[in-house]
Amino acid sequence: MAQQAWIAVDDYKQGTGWAPSGGDGERARWYCEQLERGEILFFPEPPFDLPDADREFLLQQEWSALRLHKNVSYRPTEDILRGVSGDAVTIDRLHGILKNYAKQVIRFVGEFLRPYADRWILDLASFRPFEEQGRDLALHKRNDLLHVDSFPSRPTRGGRILRVFTNLNPTKPRVWNTTGDFSALANKYASDAGLGRIADDSPASRILHGLGEKLGLRARGRTPYDTFMLGFHDYLKENTAFQEGCEKKRLEFPPLATWLVFTDGVAHAAMSGQYALEQTLLIPPQALVTPDAAPYRILEKIAGRPLVS
Ligand SMILES: [Fe+2]
Repeated sequence: MAQQAWIAVDDYKQGTGWAPSGGDGERARWYCEQLERGEILFFPEPPFDLPDADREFLLQQEWSALRLHKNVSYRPTEDILRGVSGDAVTIDRLHGILKNYAKQVIRFVGEFLRPYADRWILDLASFRPFEEQGRDLALHKRNDLLHVDSFPSRPTRGGRILRVFTNLNPTKPRVWNTTGDFSALANKYASDAGLGRIADDSPASRILHGLGEKLGLRARGRTPYDTFMLGFHDYLKENTAFQEGCEKKRLEFPPLATWLVFTDGVAHAAMSGQYALEQTLLIPPQALVTPDAAPYRILEKIAGRPLVS
């Protein structure tokens, strides 16, 4: 079943925060639940302060003249900017903009999704200055193929990947495709993607896993769940029949829209759009309000054994 496009949030706004009805925390919990069940929460404008001068600066740069990686990234926990090199004044300004965006989003999420406040692991913020349509990227790096997110270097151990996006483009929407919910996807494809093999907890397979960590072939602390999700990301991108045949929903996020989504559960593809800011937070299993909807629980049910302990 395809999800509805999104839930437009009308009781939380920049400047005033919660309307009186949200003050008791019940609305915050309800929004957490919707997100965890695979809905996208939509704001027509950023629900936090995003200075016009910052937006204009990001739009005015000659991004092709600055040396860039896939995205510009900012790590709030260490105050480090990566993925771009150029003159020091420009880099400094860019650093300041991403630092402020991260700070604003973190404060907003702590208020708006109160059940998660301070229980998250802060992940990266990013700026995406390139047009997504027609980008020349290797298959597993392509953004325009449907996938669920999983980070090779940052296992979540069952935690969920919450992302906050803002479309900075003054005229063009950012266009996504999404498809049915995670449960439907997993029930259809998890076995073919190797869940049975990965969930195998025989002594021999544990020894192999331990050896892999020692040799640096596996990220330390990666659980069978993390291993499966990494493979599932690639499996979905490689699966032409799925990419072409699955039921899709096209979402157009207009200029200045801000949206929140658990991208480990909602399969998504960025089809077109240029200039977006994004902040990621990892929500640990203990902070979830609907743990049964978490991908690790859905996969454990299918596999018939624990995947994160
Ligand atoms: Fe993604």
